[in-house]
Amino acid sequence: MKAADFDFLAQLMSRRSGIALQRSKTQMIASRLQAVVRRFGFRTIEAMLAELRFGPEQLVAAVVEALLIADTAFFRDSALFEHVRHKLLPALVKAKGQERCLRIWCAGASTGQEPYSLAMILDEENLARDGWRVELIATDLSAAAITRAREGLYSRHEVERGLAPQTLLKFFVQQGDSWRIEERIRRMVSFRVFNLLDDFGWLGTLDAIFCRNVLIYFDARPKASVLAKLSEALAPHGCLILGASESLTPATDLLRADSTRVFYRHAA
Ligand SMILES: C[S@@+](CC[C@H](N)C(=O)[O-])C[C@H]1O[C@@H](n2cnc3c(N)ncnc32)[C@H](O)[C@@H]1O
Repeated sequence: MKAADFDFLAQLMSRRSGIALQRSKTQMIASRLQAVVRRFGFRTIEAMLAELRFGPEQLVAAVVEALLIADTAFFRDSALFEHVRHKLLPALVKAKGQERCLRIWCAGASTGQEPYSLAMILDEENLARDGWRVELIATDLSAAAITRAREGLYSRHEVERGLAPQTLLKFFVQQGDSWRIEERIRRMVSFRVFNLLDDFGWLGTLDAIFCRNVLIYFDARPKASVLAKLSEALAPHGCLILGASESLTPATDLLRADSTRVFYRHAA
């Protein structure tokens, strides 16, 4: 790929998603774009990129979608989910004891494994029994990922990534070679296509926001702006959960890591 083509794509991705394309990943980028080239009937990547410069929305959206990194797994970073079950949930239940309502957002939920992992924990902790209302919102920029998440149908390989056999049997129904999440768990999550670069107004105030392994791919400026919006959306007692290898840099003055270094809360 020519340097000018890479630069054009990098600007497009940054503007449309916040993601910083890596020059070292040019081969991977070209191979992902091949699918778009075929789908739209172009003969070469160069021909597709020439058309892309005129900005037709369908093509732009398809290119952005093709370059998103959707990698995810059930209970990804299992220690974190243990922490959520034993520390975060009890703390939130304590903080919201009067209202008995929790609002949790998975921002960058990909194909649904993360919000469904939370839904399974919430189901096991049975807050509903004590009259709690739990709202679990899951969003992603990728329309394809959200469609798959809504379906809740996973391949054998996907369920083998992170699900203990007893959890699989408890919450999934086998359909041929695939496994479908139980309807009861599926209905606990509201899925929606949403770009983190857009306005958060509709989301209201959240008790917990999971934004794991999303901002790690962002340019510094959109990352700082999204972190500022995430911090505004958090309730005073709320917390933000980033991926295991992520940090708040460069927006460290808005939130701080708690003593466990797992959750981020409002700076005092
Ligand atoms: C690597 S996956 C992480 C999935 C899940 N949070 C996890 O940790 O397993 C990153 C997700 O972020 C989404 N994403 C990237 N840029 C986004 C943006 N600007 N707005 C919303 N989602 C975005 C991608 O589509 C992808 O599904």
